[in-house]
Amino acid sequence: MMSLYPLVILLSSVGVCVLRVGSDPVPLDSSSGCHSRLKQLHGQQVTVHLPPNITGHWVSSSCEVRPGPEFITRSYRFYADLSFQALQFFYQDPDCSEPSYSLRIRGSVRPLRGSWLVRGGAVCEYHLSRVQLLCHGPAAELVQQRLRSSCDLRQPLRPGRTYELWDERWAAGRDCTRGLDFSMQELRLMRLERRGHHGDPSRPEELFLGDVHTERAQRSLHQPAGYQTPLQSAKMERCGICQIVSSADLHHPPVLPAQPDRPVRLHGNWVSTRCEVRPGVLFLTRQLTFDEDSQTWTGQYDHFSDPVCRHPTFSISASGRYTRGAPSAAIRGAVEFTFTVTHMTVTPMDVATTSLLNVFRGRECGSEGSWKLGVPQDVTWTSGCAALGVRLPHTEYELFRAGHDPSGHSLLYNGQRPSDGSSPDRPERRPTSFQPPLTRCSAGETGERRGGREGDQRFRLNSGCGSNTLHGLLPVILLHTFM
Ligand SMILES: *[C@@H]1O[C@H](CO)[C@@H](O)[C@H](O)[C@H]1NC(C)=O
Repeated sequence: MMSLYPLVILLSSVGVCVLRVGSDPVPLDSSSGCHSRLKQLHGQQVTVHLPPNITGHWVSSSCEVRPGPEFITRSYRFYADLSFQALQFFYQDPDCSEPSYSLRIRGSVRPLRGSWLVRGGAVCEYHLSRVQLLCHGPAAELVQQRLRSSCDLRQPLRPGRTYELWDERWAAGRDCTRGLDFSMQELRLMRLERRGHHGDPSRPEELFLGDVHTERAQRSLHQPAGYQTPLQSAKMERCGICQIVSSADLHHPPVLPAQPDRPVRLHGNWVSTRCEVRPGVLFLTRQLTFDEDSQTWTGQYDHFSDPVCRHPTFSISASGRYTRGAPSAAIRGAVEFTFTVTHMTVTPMDVATTSLLNVFRGRECGSEGSWKLGVPQDVTWTSGCAALGVRLPHTEYELFRAGHDPSGHSLLYNGQRPSDGSSPDRPERRPTSFQPPLTRCSAGETGERRGGREGDQRFRLNSGCGSNTLHGLLPVILLHTFM
């Protein structure tokens, strides 16, 4: 139940709160390079509603990949009386063109208070009343096998028929959802966001729901500390996939068009499309550069303390090598890579981080006691930075996938970090799902042009960076503990 104190805060923050309005919001322009893109991102007006009014119909705008992997589209209806009906459609393929089964979930959900763990997010409580299942075609047999462990099925599942998996009126302990690793913990954390000017129909609201734990067994108890791909309002006309998903029902799952495989080409410069939330606590933007000829990469990770990436805390620049591996057996079209981090520079960007770094003794993170606000220090010679949880040299097993946004711009996805804060430093820990995509910076500033100047460009990157291809969450958790 909600405690009185947060309730007061909740009620006193009326309707809309505009988080840090940029003085001069600039529309994203595809012809600009990485730096100007980041600048635009930081200047963008972001409106967050606290508490969020989620009344309405929210749908997936793409085929989403969950850890496992699972391929899913979602169509959630939230009503003014706090009740909801959520449709989850599962598929056999990463295009979401071959439906396997669908779930209809009913219950209620209400925002409690602003999250202390994930600033800008709202913590919610939910109650489930009913979960129903319907299988499509031959997948029924597979679903039946998965259900067997938790459920006493008297007859074989028949495609096209609705089955009750769970009902609040059932006796305690009877629960057929477990075999499917079902969970609605995503409703525990949400964020309703609008980027750009209020009332601009081309910048509709997006509903972020909590992330799904990367370990299936942990899902049902997971307290989200990050978000999934946001849902779009079903009213958004410019989104073709949203239209397909919003008109679907339990019996008629959305069938998305099969996509030709897009080759995974890393070469060039890539940058975050939004202020990203790293499960744990911090917010960041990433800028990655790959050189396919020399198989080297650099990454810049700017960390921030606020959810719209305006208050920098520290930056990491990292570089190293990478090798391309086999096409992914788990996700068609994705490719495995191995990354090593061999060099790293850290720049404290606020007083708290500077003090933290200066507390560390000996050879744990650069020169003892020498950290100054805004001054970068190479920490390669101390084998990384213990304060940030980074050891060098470091190897990560990655998964990349190519994509494109609705306007046709190239996107690059790399693997989601394990939810337990560890790093994918062994092949068996390789991700099976993705982080928010990076977008390619324009040719003028990137590696569309192969050869000589590209190399110079790569090592001239000098401002900020976040943490991702490398050390995932550890920095976040440790820093948070100290601050
Ligand atoms: C929430 O939004 C719905 C539809 O957009 C609207 O009808 C309703 O009045 C809103 N509720 C509150 C409390 O603002």
